[in-house]
Amino acid sequence: MSGFVVWFTGLSAAGKTTVANIVEAELEQRGLLVEHLDGDIVRTHLSKGLGFSKEDRDANIARIGWVASRIARAGAAVVVSVISPYEEARRHARLLVEPHAPFIEVYVATPLEECARRDPKGLYAAAFAGEIDDFTGVSAPYEAPSNPEVTLDTTGVSPGDSAAVVLDRLAELNVVRA
Ligand code: ADX
Repeated sequence: MSGFVVWFTGLSAAGKTTVANIVEAELEQRGLLVEHLDGDIVRTHLSKGLGFSKEDRDANIARIGWVASRIARAGAAVVVSVISPYEEARRHARLLVEPHAPFIEVYVATPLEECARRDPKGLYAAAFAGEIDDFTGVSAPYEAPSNPEVTLDTTGVSPGDSAAVVLDRLAELNVVRA
């Protein structure tokens, strides 16, 4: 069995978790062992206590990259969904994984305006009101990937259709069977 890492990056409310959940379920349906490392969940366990400064985000991404590399090396598929706003931190995660397994970066390129319109947790409203420091896309940077394996804009696209684009690309890259 050969493992791999599918790494979803993008703004808060871009749709990372929603699409990643479907990809996870579809991979399990195909009989693969799958682990899903989602930012909101990782931050209640592995990264509990970390905040949103660049240093803390870098630590969060380094931990997730390391764990993902170990799981993929053992032969399972890993789905990661984290904002991971810094290109250098994502590159470091890729470097940890690639000696052992393919790393597929999925840029969920939903525009800021659409993310702020969705605002499922009310965080954009608070950030625009100046109530949250270091909020990605508002008061902290998001560095878009320069060369992702997949780019998705979820505006007006169903989560299932976005997941299908990812699964097709995994097949195209011979990471999973078509
Ligand atoms: S990352 O930058 O370190 O990759 P991560 O994906 O783990 O971030 O966590 C992002 C989640 O934390 C968001 O979905 C949001 O719910 C919450 N959050 C709280 N504060 C912030 C902030 N300042 N910037 C971005 N997300 C925040």
